[in-house]
Amino acid sequence: MENTELKQKFAELYGEGEIRLFAAAGRVNLIGEHIDYCGGKVFPAALNLCCTVAARKNNEKKIRLAATTIEDKVTLDLGKLDSYRDLPWGAYQAGVAYIMAQEGYEIVGCDLLFDCTVPFGSGLSSSAAIEVATAKTLAVFSEEAGGKSADNPTLAILSQKAENEYTNVACGIMDQYASACGKQHRAMLLDCKTLECSYVPLDFGEYTLVIANSNKRRSLQEGKYNERRAECEEALAILQKSLPEATCLADITPKDFKKASKALSPVLLKRARHVVTECARVKEAAEALEKGKVKAFGKLLNESHFSLRDDYEVTGKELDALTEYSRNFKGCIGSRMTGAGFGGCTVSLVKTELVPAFIDTVGKAYESAVGYAADFYTTTIEDGAREVL
Ligand code: GLA
Repeated sequence: MENTELKQKFAELYGEGEIRLFAAAGRVNLIGEHIDYCGGKVFPAALNLCCTVAARKNNEKKIRLAATTIEDKVTLDLGKLDSYRDLPWGAYQAGVAYIMAQEGYEIVGCDLLFDCTVPFGSGLSSSAAIEVATAKTLAVFSEEAGGKSADNPTLAILSQKAENEYTNVACGIMDQYASACGKQHRAMLLDCKTLECSYVPLDFGEYTLVIANSNKRRSLQEGKYNERRAECEEALAILQKSLPEATCLADITPKDFKKASKALSPVLLKRARHVVTECARVKEAAEALEKGKVKAFGKLLNESHFSLRDDYEVTGKELDALTEYSRNFKGCIGSRMTGAGFGGCTVSLVKTELVPAFIDTVGKAYESAVGYAADFYTTTIEDGAREVL
């Protein structure tokens, strides 16, 4: 929705007056999947698909929430922020307000209208965009009320904490960090152990990055997600017996892993092998991109998908079909699932002039195989959290 239309909708809902706009981005992850919570380096970028919040302080002890795309309206009582965990919609915002209040921010009553263009459940982090946009709004209002302020990395940490502790998803830091700290035209090489982040100009030469949504919704995803994270922790504890210097799975080199992995059960071996090999692929991918070796980068995308399919087991038939049809297309040099998996989106590198033919061919093959269509997005890489002035 255009910003003027959003402001108009806000005025219809909450009345005329000053209206501020805050935004945070959805993200796509190029490579480095399911390793952020193992201390690995990931390679995401912030998208123009984003969550925009129209906002105004209301001088009450309440935060009112509404959205442009759903009917639900929610009022959060600032004295009872702990009690909204089970809301069908609004729990992400409540969680952020709750965590920020706990961390000593001055939570100011306000009216908020959310407009989120990141497709829900697509693996492009609509939840992080909502959390970070909420955190940005509340942090600016806190500072204006004489309370604490927060820079963008802090917004990411607060938002992740809300998701971990309030909505009980044991997610890593990647999504919230990309949503908060992304930069236009740049991907981010983020070390999830130290939170050091370097920005890399994204240039795929004669290829274009195409995002496709399998439109398979991720039911049960959260349960499986937490299960994978627990399996990684179990594997680490066993590996540390012979590799005591490793503080996380990402510390373990492929060579050391080969020796130490004999102690793991078949399932834990596969999970940990994905993490160790994916960390190595990120390193290679960043080097390949730096040297302009786009085909090598594409090959790593394929290998990442195979590892997520065979070792980490988070793909599913829809994502496997979509990436396979993509790979079979002659102008495509690499394709993989992106995000948590089980459904959601893929990324593919496609010869730029062949993108329309790619969308047509892959779209038709996918639809006839699974019975419903995929969506293809033309996106750009934009800034993370900001007040829209
Ligand atoms: C979800 C989580 C992230 C990350 C990815 C998988 O998007 O929120 O922290 O673990 O899955 O890479």
